[in-house]
Parts: sequence; structure tokens; C-alpha cells
Amino acid sequence: MMQTGGNLFDEWRSMQRRLVKHIREPRSSDLADSSMAIPASVYTDPDRFEAERRKIFGELPLLAGFSSDLPEPGDRLFFDAAGPPIVIIRGRDGVVRAFLNLCPHRGARLVVDCERSSRLTCPFHAWSFDLEGRLANTPHPLAFEGLAKDSLHLIALPAEEWQGMIFVKSTPGEDLDIEAFLGEIAPLFAALDLGALQCVRKDRFEVESNWKIALDTFCETYHVPALHQKSLSRNLIPYVTIFDHYERHHRYSGPGVDFAELVDQPESEWSTGGYQAVHFLFPNTTIAYTHALDGKTPVVSIFQLFPGETVGQCVTIGSTYRRRDAPDASDAQISEMHDIVLDVVINEDYPVARDTFTCLAHAPRDFEIVLGRAEALLLHYHRDIADAIEMKLP
Ligand code: FES
Ligand SMILES: [Fe+2]
Repeated sequence: MMQTGGNLFDEWRSMQRRLVKHIREPRSSDLADSSMAIPASVYTDPDRFEAERRKIFGELPLLAGFSSDLPEPGDRLFFDAAGPPIVIIRGRDGVVRAFLNLCPHRGARLVVDCERSSRLTCPFHAWSFDLEGRLANTPHPLAFEGLAKDSLHLIALPAEEWQGMIFVKSTPGEDLDIEAFLGEIAPLFAALDLGALQCVRKDRFEVESNWKIALDTFCETYHVPALHQKSLSRNLIPYVTIFDHYERHHRYSGPGVDFAELVDQPESEWSTGGYQAVHFLFPNTTIAYTHALDGKTPVVSIFQLFPGETVGQCVTIGSTYRRRDAPDASDAQISEMHDIVLDVVINEDYPVARDTFTCLAHAPRDFEIVLGRAEALLLHYHRDIADAIEMKLP
């Protein structure tokens, strides 16, 4: 497990050793201790779904973006997918704050564009607020004479900028403690240098499925040889995965076909190829450290999944980022990678996710699905989701 002060080269080398060991021992892989059956209702029960919206998407810190999304005072970032419209703003003091994007006058959407500015001015009647959310000006002051303007503050939400990552809670409440929330995975996220990421492409799309069925497709590689036979499977050695569990957060990595060469070489001759892994940030985000198709350009591919309006709807935000170590003229490769990954998700994973929801919604009441030992991450996160909503898995 990575400790503070560790570096990604050493980390990757130890992961390479584990992957090569698995490849040398045919049919070997990291596996969970046992398989587990879970009822279909975990994906289809509207009560469970409402509990997830309330207790997970309402009460847990959610990754909303990165420091580079709002580098200067007055920059703002929208974050609406968790439910309420939220605007995140960097103040004059450099601090990142989040507010419900809701005008205290008559409830209009207050911020409607991402232009940097020193005031937030409502498009409806032009009330304006400073970057700390205080009411600064109301046109035609006589219209509100005698009103206690101090109470007309924007509604603040808990937010924290931690190591370049911006977290927000979508309901008002106490301050966040992101270091505690991340726990054992915090040193690894610190080493990933996520604050330097620059967004190259971002898309939002929907699928008629439960959000956890969609998320399952990002959290195991067991389906790759079959479902992605004509796409991703060509680049990966099948059925070999290493898993690392950090309380509720996780990491997995599978070997690319280039690992076939490493197996016959002494470690001193291994090419590094650079750290590659998918990180699962509880409850809804995967962060993949990978390369563009040229095999060189480093890329970070992020998927954030959210419940839609009903138990059978899911909203996904898929983004592809440039890393600090990417060559200057590599945006075309990064953009191409974005298109390829989204094509796989939208045209290979999500049709299965959609049909699975339909099948499970019509399955016999006592139908259970089976999660196998190679689907280790799913075993963990379904238990953790159940714990978070205080509705144990039967
Ligand atoms: S609703 Fe915003 S100024 Fe009136
Ligand atoms: Fe997939």
C-alpha cells in the first residue's frame, strides 16, 4: 500500500511485478475470497434508490472538479448532476466555495455562464452578490427598503479543495474532512498530481438503467474479453487483474499486451511504460490513468455516475484530461482517446446496462445475481453502498 512520500515509479514497479507473476502463472489473478449473491432489487427497488439519492448523493462528499477548472478568483464551475444546481466559485481570497445556484430574491438560476467576474449578477432582476455569497447590490433600492439584506446570503454548501481535487456536498451542513474521507487512498491521490489536470473533452449522457448497473461496467475487467472483443480486448491480456482496496476506495489494473514481453525479461530490462490503473473513488467516480492510442501520451479518463430521476435512469459525465507530463501538441491524441472510450461506453457497455435493467425489473421477485471472485471491486462497493444507506444486503 502506498505510503506518504511514495512515488509513482516505485508504485508501478511493484504493480508490474504482481501482474507479471500472475501472467507467468496461467489463470492467476487477484481474487476476492468468495463470490456473493445479491438480490435484483438492489438495482430496481425505488425505496432503495431514494435512500441512495438522499444518503449518498445528498450527504457524502462528491468529486466536482479539479483546481485547474477554476484557477483564478472569480472563476466558477457548475456541478448539477448530483441533484440541485450548484455553482463553485474561487473567492478573492483564493478559497473555493460552493453555493446552491439559487437567487434568494425569487429563486432564479443565479449564475448562467462560466465567464470570470468579481460579482455574481442574477439575470432576472440583476441582484448581485460578491464571491463570498453576500448580497452586494439590488437595483432600485426603494423596492426593498427595510428588508434585512444580511439574511439574503447565497446558501453555502460544504466544499473543500484537497490536493487539486474539489469536493462538494450537495446539501448544507458541516465542513468536509476530505483527508479523513479518502483515508488510506489519500497518499496515492496526492501522488497522482490531479490538480494539474487540464480538461480537454467533457460529455454528459444518459442511459435507461440503474446507476449501479452502469457503474458495475466500469469496475471489473471480467467482461472485457467478451463484450469488448472487437475493441479494448485487443490491447489487454485477458482475465488478469490486480486489486487494491483502501477502505471504501479501490484500485485495479490489468496488463496491456506489452506485458507479454516483460514475462521473459529480467526486471532490469523492463520498460516502465508509466503508471496505469483505474481508481474507484467512492461512491460514483472512476479515474483511469492511462495512455492515448499512440501508447505514449498520458491521459486521465474520468467517469462520474449519478442517479437520474427514476430508479431506471442514470446520468454519466465522461471527461478526458491532459496531464502535466503530456507533450504540448498532444490534444489531438487526447481528444481521439476521448471519442474511442466514449464509443465503447455508449455503444458496448451501456446497451448491456440498459437491457440488464429491463431484465432485472421483470425478473422473479426472489431473483439474485451472482458476483464472482474476479468481480472483487463490485463485492466491496455494493456492501459499502448498502452500509451507507443503512439497508443491509439481504
Ligand atoms: S430572481 Fe434573482 S434578482 Fe430576482
Ligand atoms: Fe466495459
